[in-house]
Amino acid sequence: MVNRDEIIKKESKYMVPAYARKPIVIYEGENTIVRDLDGTEYIDCLSGISVVNAGHSPERLVKAGSEQLSKLIHCSGLYHNVPQTLLAEKLANLTPTNLTKSFFCNSGAEAVEGGVKIAKKYSVTQGRTGAAVIALEGSFHGRLALSLTLTGQAK
Ligand SMILES: Cc1ncc(COP(=O)(O)O)c(C=O)c1O
Repeated sequence: MVNRDEIIKKESKYMVPAYARKPIVIYEGENTIVRDLDGTEYIDCLSGISVVNAGHSPERLVKAGSEQLSKLIHCSGLYHNVPQTLLAEKLANLTPTNLTKSFFCNSGAEAVEGGVKIAKKYSVTQGRTGAAVIALEGSFHGRLALSLTLTGQAK
C-alpha cells in the first residue's frame, strides 16, 4: 500500500501542477463519506464540486457502470449508440418542457464553451453580427482557452 507522502511526491514529479491541493490523498468514497489513505473520514459537502450528486460509488451506479463497461467502453461520435440516446431522452423528460436536446461533453469547461458556441450560432442565424459574451467579475468558468478568458479572476 502506498502512503500519503509518497503519492504527493510522485504527483509533483509526474503531473503538471494545475491545482493548489490540500495535503490529503482521497482514497475511497461511500455515499456522502470519503476516506483518505490514512483512514480518516470526511463528509463530502460539495459532492466532488457537484460531480457525484448521486453519492460516492452507490451500488446501482457501480452495477450499471460495470455492465456498460463490460459491454462497450467507447463509441466514437461517428456512430449512433444506445445509452447516449436513451439518456438524452430521459433528460428531455426530466427537464422543463422546452429543454428537449442534450449536448454531452466531458467537463464543465467544455459545457461552458459548448454553451457559448450554441449562443453564437443562434445569434448568427438571427442575422446578428458582433455578438459579445458577458462574464461576471470573480467568476470561474474553467481552464480551457475560451472558458479561461471568460473567467473573471486575475490569477
Ligand atoms: C461554475 C463552473 N464552471 C466551470 C467549471 C469547470 O469545470 P471543469 O473543471 O469540469 O472543466 C467549474 C469547475 O469547478 C465550475 O465550478
